[in-house]
Amino acid sequence: MVDFLAEDIWPAESGIKRLQTFEESRQLTLRATQKALREVAQKYFRGGEKIVEIGSGLGFMARNMPANYFNSWIQLEGQEAFIEKAREAHAFGEYIRGSAYDLPFADNSLHTITGYCSFDVLTDLETAVSEVYRTLAKGGRFVHLLDLGVNDEVILRDLRKKRIPCCLRGTSTSCWSILEGGTPMQLYYIPEEKLAGFLQEIGMTREEMDRLPEIQEFFGLEHFERKYFEKQKRGGELNGERTFEEIYEIAEDSVEVTMKYLALFKKYEQVLDTNSYFHERLEQTLAEYFPAQNVRFTTVRGVYTGERTPQQLAHCPEAYIFERRAGKVEMGQYFYHQWPRYVLSQKMKESFPRIAQWLEPTCAEIVTLECMVAEK
Ligand SMILES: C[S@@+](CC[C@H](N)C(=O)[O-])C[C@H]1O[C@@H](n2cnc3c(N)ncnc32)[C@H](O)[C@@H]1O
Repeated sequence: MVDFLAEDIWPAESGIKRLQTFEESRQLTLRATQKALREVAQKYFRGGEKIVEIGSGLGFMARNMPANYFNSWIQLEGQEAFIEKAREAHAFGEYIRGSAYDLPFADNSLHTITGYCSFDVLTDLETAVSEVYRTLAKGGRFVHLLDLGVNDEVILRDLRKKRIPCCLRGTSTSCWSILEGGTPMQLYYIPEEKLAGFLQEIGMTREEMDRLPEIQEFFGLEHFERKYFEKQKRGGELNGERTFEEIYEIAEDSVEVTMKYLALFKKYEQVLDTNSYFHERLEQTLAEYFPAQNVRFTTVRGVYTGERTPQQLAHCPEAYIFERRAGKVEMGQYFYHQWPRYVLSQKMKESFPRIAQWLEPTCAEIVTLECMVAEK
C-alpha cells in the first residue's frame, strides 16, 4: 500500500502542464543548469552507486545529469502519469511509483538520496526526512536541490498551523506571465513583534485572537467591523426594520470596512522570503535525525557562455544574459566589455548579416542552485 497525503498529490493532467511550464522556463538557462548539476555530482555523489531521486516528476534532473549517471538513477514519483511521461522522454535507469512517506527500500541500504524541487511540496516533512534517514547507510548522503521558488501553499499552511496571520497575494505564479506584466505571488505575514499594534488598531485583544479556532487572513474583521460601526453609532447587522437606503448604506460601509481592514493588514505585514523559510525548516528537520554538524546549506553555481538558443532568441531577442536564482530569471542586455561588439553587430544586421552574427556577443547563462546536504 503506497502511503500519500491527499494534499501532496498533484492532479495528473494539470500537474503535467505545470511541470512542462517549469521546464519551458528552465530552457532559458539549461546549459548552465547542466554544468551546475555536474558540479553537484562531483562534490556529493560518490560514483558507481545507485541514486534515488524522490519526487522526480517528469525526470528533469535525471535527464540533465552527466550521461554516466543515467543507468544508476532511480526515479521515485507519486504520480503514475508523470512516470509514464518521464520514461517516454528518457529510457534509462529505473522508475518506481512510490511515496516519500514510505520509501520502498530496506533500512541502511542506500548511499545517495536526492530531490529536485520536491521536498518543498511535502506537507509532512518529518516523515519524509525520517524515511530518508532510515534508508540511508552510514556515511550516506541526502542532497536536495532547488532552482525554482518554493511552493507557497505548503508554507501558507505551515504558518497557519503556527497561527501566524498571513496571506498570499499576486496575480501569477508563472514566470511567463510575470514577464508579461503580472505580479509574482508573494507570501505576507504579520510578525510577532508587530502583532500587538495590528490587534490594537482592529480592536481585538490577544486573548480574543487566541480563542479563535484558526487564523485566516480575515480573522479580525468582525472585531474591526464592530469597532468601526460603534464609532459610526450604528450596528452593522442587517435586519428587517431597516429601510432599503439604510441597508444599502451598511453594505457600502461593509465594503469600505473590509478595504480598511486590508489596508491595516498591509501596514503591519512583511514579505516572507519563502525559499529561506523552507531551507530553515528543512535544516531543522534534518538536524532532528542527522548529526547537526553534518547538515549544511550551500549554493552551487553553473555558468555557461556560448551562442544563444532558439528559445532564448524567441523569448527575449535583446537579452544576452540569463540569470536564474530562487526561481526568477533576470534577463540582461550584455556585459559592459561586450558593448562595442553588440553595437557593431546591430549596425551590420541589415547589410551584412553574416558578419553581424559573427560579431554578436556570446550569451551568458548563470544558475544558482540552492542545495541542502545531510550526511548520516
Ligand atoms: C514541484 S514537483 C518537482 C518535479 C521535478 N523534480 C522537477 O523539478 O521538475 C514535485 C514532485 O513531487 C511529487 N510528489 C509530491 N508528493 C509526493 C510524495 N508524497 N511522494 C512522492 N512524490 C511526491 C509530485 O508528484 C511532483 O512530481
